[in-house]
Amino acid sequence: MLISLWSVYFKDEIEFGVFTQVSIAFSVVKRVFSFIVDNFPDIANLISNGQRLSEIGHGFDLSVHDFETGPSLSASHSAPEAKLLAPGVMIHVESATLKIPSGERTLVRNLSIDLDQESRFLIVGSSGCGKTSLLRTFSGLWSPASGVVASRGFRDGVIFVPQKPYVFSGSLREQLLFYPDVELDLNQERMYTLLDSVSLSSVHQTLESSEAFIDWPKVLSVGEQQRIAFARVLLAKVKFVLLDESTSALDIPTERAVCQLLQDAGAGYVSVGHRSSLLPFNDSVLELGLIVTAAGACVMPMTMPSRRLDGLPQGVLAFKDCWDAS
Ligand SMILES: Nc1ncnc2c1ncn2[C@@H]1O[C@H](COP(=O)(O)OP(=O)(O)O)[C@@H](O)[C@H]1O
Ligand SMILES: [Mg+2]
Repeated sequence: MLISLWSVYFKDEIEFGVFTQVSIAFSVVKRVFSFIVDNFPDIANLISNGQRLSEIGHGFDLSVHDFETGPSLSASHSAPEAKLLAPGVMIHVESATLKIPSGERTLVRNLSIDLDQESRFLIVGSSGCGKTSLLRTFSGLWSPASGVVASRGFRDGVIFVPQKPYVFSGSLREQLLFYPDVELDLNQERMYTLLDSVSLSSVHQTLESSEAFIDWPKVLSVGEQQRIAFARVLLAKVKFVLLDESTSALDIPTERAVCQLLQDAGAGYVSVGHRSSLLPFNDSVLELGLIVTAAGACVMPMTMPSRRLDGLPQGVLAFKDCWDAS
């Protein structure tokens, strides 16, 4: 481009000023294009991050809607299904079939269950069989491919606790006052007692003040972050918790202690976990990926224990046949 400009300039067809202006304009355009080429991977990432945030924003809008209108209905937001949430029922699942988002694979087939504040429900199964997906559906984040899933929203005391809780830099107080509507006048003594109850005494013992700014993601181990998540839940006076391997990094005595604390707080829960130590804290077990039949979901008394559910306490029920290998 500049070479052809030089030839036009030497033929006296343009003045030197015009030549200079065109050169500057060209270098500006070149710089812009180089920026795009040099930063293409970052720009591509930015676009996908933006899309993800937009999806989260959409989900949040739905949650806000649920806060205001009550129950969240993942299959349909029509009034007749809202009535399916009988008083005291936190999650209502009726003939629900769950598929991966592309619809290619069925994870759970024809599951029906009502969960209330008394329910202690354990989901087990091999990695990738659909445990997290089922919890997402219970919480209303995902919709079933068919059937109905109706769950009470956060305002009605249902909280989802992921395996890796969100922990951020700030004061201890800010970490604990994570959920809206928790007691804002939380005093230091109550805060420290709460931390003691989830085996986090070491955290406050090394703190100069509960108001000190700490880089918590760097300071806390994953197990300690999981304990913080339980402290938050207990502070939020939760009624029902969806625990997605939320005790995976806890030692067994602490796992027992937090399950007991939830029970003492009168909260029901669905938990996903692998350890048999969780069994005494649950009254029902759903094992995904165990038996394939065309018969649909059923509830079996534990007089018919399966391979992996051996050793369940008397009276524990197992849900089977809720899985499709296709
Ligand atoms: N957002 C998604 N898009 C597509 N497939 C997904 C998505 N989330 C999960 N899956 C697939 O669904 C299956 C079940 O995943 P998940 O529920 O996370 O399993 P688990 O918690 O039992 O390990 C896996 O095969 C996983 O790859
Ligand atoms: Mg999972």
